[in-house]
Amino acid sequence: MPLLLAPLLLAPLLLAGCAGRDSVWLTGGGAEPEQRAGGDECPLGQSQAALSVIDRSLIGGPAGYVADESLARRERELLTSQRARRQVAWQIAQRVLAPVPLPAALEAGAGQSQLPAWQTWHARDDLTRIFRRAYPELSAEQRAARAALPAALLDAAWEWNDGALADFPEWTLERQSAYRAAIDGAAALAGLGGIYRVAYSPAASRRLLDSYGAVLDCRDSARSDAHGAAQPPAGPPVDARCGLPPSPPPDCLTSAFSPSASIVKASWRRAGIGLPLPAYDTSAASLERRLTASAQPSWETPDLEADPGPDEIYTLRLPNGNSFRLAALHIMTKELDHWIWSTLWWSPEPDSDFGADRPASLPAPWNHYKLCSAVAFDEGDDDPRGGFGEDHPTLADALEATYEGLGGRTWCSNPYIEEGAGNAASNCIGCHQHAGTGLRSETILADAELFPDHSRRLVRDDFPSDYVFAVSVGDDLAAMFRETEQHYAP
Ligand code: HEC
Repeated sequence: MPLLLAPLLLAPLLLAGCAGRDSVWLTGGGAEPEQRAGGDECPLGQSQAALSVIDRSLIGGPAGYVADESLARRERELLTSQRARRQVAWQIAQRVLAPVPLPAALEAGAGQSQLPAWQTWHARDDLTRIFRRAYPELSAEQRAARAALPAALLDAAWEWNDGALADFPEWTLERQSAYRAAIDGAAALAGLGGIYRVAYSPAASRRLLDSYGAVLDCRDSARSDAHGAAQPPAGPPVDARCGLPPSPPPDCLTSAFSPSASIVKASWRRAGIGLPLPAYDTSAASLERRLTASAQPSWETPDLEADPGPDEIYTLRLPNGNSFRLAALHIMTKELDHWIWSTLWWSPEPDSDFGADRPASLPAPWNHYKLCSAVAFDEGDDDPRGGFGEDHPTLADALEATYEGLGGRTWCSNPYIEEGAGNAASNCIGCHQHAGTGLRSETILADAELFPDHSRRLVRDDFPSDYVFAVSVGDDLAAMFRETEQHYAP
């Protein structure tokens, strides 16, 4: 039987209650274009739309994240200088946002079509298609043992996914050309990337696919009872200027991610008449107010509203006509052992505070985004103004508003993404240390005893999924692996 047929024949068994989605098993639960973003029979949240098989075929393979290999040697500098840290974080953002040429010219009248690198990366749907292509090739014994997927098998499934369209009979040539013809400008082209929230660079998705057995073993173990595992590490406190001890091998992965692993999480907001974008004032005065107004600082109340056009904010249009604005983008890159954490948010006042040091080489609309970054739980810079006192006073003021002293907790929080009480005072790495344990953000933020300082303090000595939540919450790859495993179980 050809490779493809087995899942196709079995697929209908799994489709209870979702009419008209014949290829859901192969596309991994993604709705086809006309059902995207709010189709009636299978409602999708407004901020989710699949990277469907046609989009992937037009985009081609995901572009690699080109890591800066020198950063591991500069760890101490990044720990002790906010200035160096921010400069490196902007450079990371530039690599993630860099335009990547697509295999075919798509935009009518334009030359080579391009997308920002991260929009070519794998989404959960790609991981699902690739996994479900490769996994049935294992023998029954191998599946029972959760044996590793041979590299050649994964390579083949990966390549197949880049151009799998021909294997989807519902994508007739006529329908394909109508889809291409509808890509009539930059916004529709950007829409190919979809509004899926989380995207994985090739090195990140490969490690996750390789790790399916470990992810499933973790899911089955008592790992999800994480309260017991959370405890302050033994020994004297770590000097914030020296960094953390090397992270132990993660239980829930074959091994830690490699330096070219990067994962992003996007926040898209519906654009259109009567749909203004909330916006935030992150100047020193406003931040100080927000961070001290309550014992549980939050971003719940925006400071103003804006209505930016596509030249000011990255905007896309989905095939169903709905437009979305990119309000924010989280970026984690594995150039350091405990990752580099960066995040971008849109601002109507883009050149002050957290945007003051943005490199001039970032073109519109990216010159409307601000950034913060963290590389550790505790601050190793003894300058409250982060070295910006002379040339960027508004940035220096804003950094000072979040500074808790040498050895105090770091700060980095994105107004558009970090929801919930206490989350305006978080620092990325502190919450993510619990990834792989099954703990959820709400629990982590709410329990000040187990997870002090709004979750910012180091309380673990293991990082079960190398700081990546997607293995067990959010994209919940464990659930996708498990569903596949059960499907093929005798
Ligand atoms: C209070 C907890 C918390 C904080 C703080 C937090 N995150 Fe997350 N993050 C999560 C959870 C939970 C998920 C998975 C669910 C989802 O996708 O929304 C996640 C998902 C992600 C992902 C997708 C990969 C993954 O781990 O699943 C990235 C990238 C990310 N966060 C980056 C950041 C950055 C950068 C910051 C700081 C600016 C940050 N996060 C702050 C809890 C947190």
